[in-house]
Order: sequence, then structure tokens, then C-alpha cells
Amino acid sequence: MNYILAPSILAADFKSLGQEMKKTWEQGAAYLHFDVMDGMFVPSISFGMPVLASIKGATEQVMDVHLMVHEPIRYIEAFKKAGADLVTVHLEACEDVQAAIDKIRTLGLKAGLSICPETSSESVKPFLNDVDMILVMSVHPGFGGQKFIPESLDKIRRIREMIRERDLCVDIEVDGGIYLSNVREVLNAGANVIVAGSAVFGGDSGKNTRDFMEILREYE
Ligand code: DX5
Ligand code: ZN
Repeated sequence: MNYILAPSILAADFKSLGQEMKKTWEQGAAYLHFDVMDGMFVPSISFGMPVLASIKGATEQVMDVHLMVHEPIRYIEAFKKAGADLVTVHLEACEDVQAAIDKIRTLGLKAGLSICPETSSESVKPFLNDVDMILVMSVHPGFGGQKFIPESLDKIRRIREMIRERDLCVDIEVDGGIYLSNVREVLNAGANVIVAGSAVFGGDSGKNTRDFMEILREYE
């Protein structure tokens, strides 16, 4: 299994976004996590396709687009055009979850399915065979800098168990409140893709990435 760091640029200083991205790439962060908020599925608004198109190519990082958007199927094609490599939709945001996943895959992108803290792990079961990644939210989506919800660990364990039982190759990404101090708990529970916003960009992003990567490599 690959262990991957996905720094979330929501917490980055946009005055020097390209340079910040480069620092994380040079220190081994294979993904860049791009949080799209629509002011409807979540209370806040972040950024969208033009920003993605502008930063695409600043590094060779996989553009990991997390759509916190109501009925995201409407925008999947536009995000592909803007440079997305992996698109994650929220189970709670889709009237037809399967159709959204199919659309992502038909466009040749990797598909992720995300669940909020109040959504059960069992709810992803019907879709496990059709996704590349499950994204477990360990905070309520909408804002960076929140506290990790410890109940997420059981959820990660349960989903990893379901993936193993079926002998599938599905990544588990975890997003929200992850720091150097608690990342091992998340990895031990069975996650292999780690999103970190404040913990990476809230200081020296190069050094923070290096510190995370040192831990992730212990698990390879
Ligand atoms: C929350 C976002 C997260 C957020 C994580 O809605 O999906 O990706 O940026 O930020 P931290 O790591 O600061 O909790
Ligand atoms: Zn996110």
C-alpha cells in the first residue's frame, strides 16, 4: 500500500501559493488536496476551477479535488478540464451517488467517495467496488483548523476491514485535525492517505512535510 501526504492548500498563504506547493512536493507530498466549498453543502465558500487551472502544473502533484458541493455531478467535467486527477464527492451531497461515481470514472479520473462524521461506515459498502478511495471526514466539513473527532478511528478500522474482506485495493483518506501528534493513530487504524492543512501550512511547510513523510515511510 502507498502512504501519501495530501497537504490542503486551504490553510496556505495564497500570496505565495506556487512556492508553497513546490516546498511540499520537494519534500515528498505526492498529492495536493484542493477543498472546494459551495456555501450550500457547507456554510463556507472557498475556491473553484479557475484557481485549480492556475496552479495545475506548478508541481507534478496529483490534484486531489474534494468537492464539498451540493450535487457535484454538475461540475465534474469542469474540474477535469481545470486539471483534477482525483475527484471526491460527498455521499450526503448526491441524489444519485452511483451516477456521480460513474461520471468521474467515465471521464478517466480516479473516484473518491466521502462521508461526514455523522454518516455511518456501512453507508459506503454498496460503492466500495467502484471507487479508488474513501475519504473519511474527521471534522465537520467546511473549515480548516478544527479538532480531530476521535470516533473517526473506529470508522476507519471498519472501512479498512470491509476493503480487506473483499480483497479490494481502495485507499482510505482522512481529512481534518491531523497533526504530527495524532497521525500515527490514523495510520494505525488503516488510513493511507493523510490530509493536513494547518499542520503543513501553519509554519514551515517544507519542514512540516518532511516530518510527516518520515512517519509515513515507517508504514511502507
Ligand atoms: C475541511 C477540509 C479540510 C481542511 C483540513 O472541510 O476538507 O481539508 O482543510 O484542514 P486541517 O488540517 O487544518 O484540519
Ligand atoms: Zn478536504
